[in-house]
Amino acid sequence: SANEIKNKDRQQTITIAHRGASGYAPENTMAAFEKSVDMKAEMFELDVQMSKDGKLVVIHDTTVDRTTNGSGQVGDFTYKELQQLDAGGWFSKEFAGEKIPTLGEVLDQFKGRSGILIELKSPSLYPGIEQKVADALVSRNLHKPENEKIIVQSFDHESMKKFHSILPSVPVGVLLGYSENGVSNEQLAEFSAYADYFNPNKAMITKDLVERIHEYDMKTHPYTVRDRESANFLLETGVDGIITDFPDYVDPHKG
Ligand code: G3P
Ligand code: CA
Repeated sequence: SANEIKNKDRQQTITIAHRGASGYAPENTMAAFEKSVDMKAEMFELDVQMSKDGKLVVIHDTTVDRTTNGSGQVGDFTYKELQQLDAGGWFSKEFAGEKIPTLGEVLDQFKGRSGILIELKSPSLYPGIEQKVADALVSRNLHKPENEKIIVQSFDHESMKKFHSILPSVPVGVLLGYSENGVSNEQLAEFSAYADYFNPNKAMITKDLVERIHEYDMKTHPYTVRDRESANFLLETGVDGIITDFPDYVDPHKG
């Protein structure tokens, strides 16, 4: 029956809270990651950049303007200066005082409690970021495949090739923005040489594309679901995971 198919799909499709459960708490903060765990998402996603003094910091935009009370380029602030910023008050009063976390803090607080999908955001602005992320994982013993699930992804495919060569035991994902031309088998073959995941904009996903991704021995976690209709559509196509601001839209039991 249709219901059986849905339940089967649900078991196979994991929920990944986008920037944490960012529909319910300020994105890329400890509050949003805790909310993801509360809502029983299997993983959460976060964005990593680097401070002026080389600390790995968790924030999406390359400026602090939208998600903090400060203004300017992330890479122009020292870690100490970034720590002074309020990363929660913009979302709502109850979250005022949330800080920009470091990658290390998030790994320490959530290893063993949640899978973590780490996006390297604009890595070409931050030379050496691949090695630093690899070091952060290895020093916590998170590079062993039998440990809690960690995936590293980026829109910058050269950066992912580099990360894969530094730390081949950690699975890598290739992100791709929407293109009306779709994605060719030549592209999929090229990605599969180093990547375990091909994660396109959700508007690219069809049943056929999901099958082709699987034929190239990759999995797919498309982004970003913000409504129930697209969650249901993606579940029917058999994707491996869904990156969503609202974990309960993928599975009403989450939440
Ligand atoms: O995880 C994929 C998704 O986060 C990519 O888009 O802009 O939200 O980082 P963006
Ligand atoms: Ca992201």
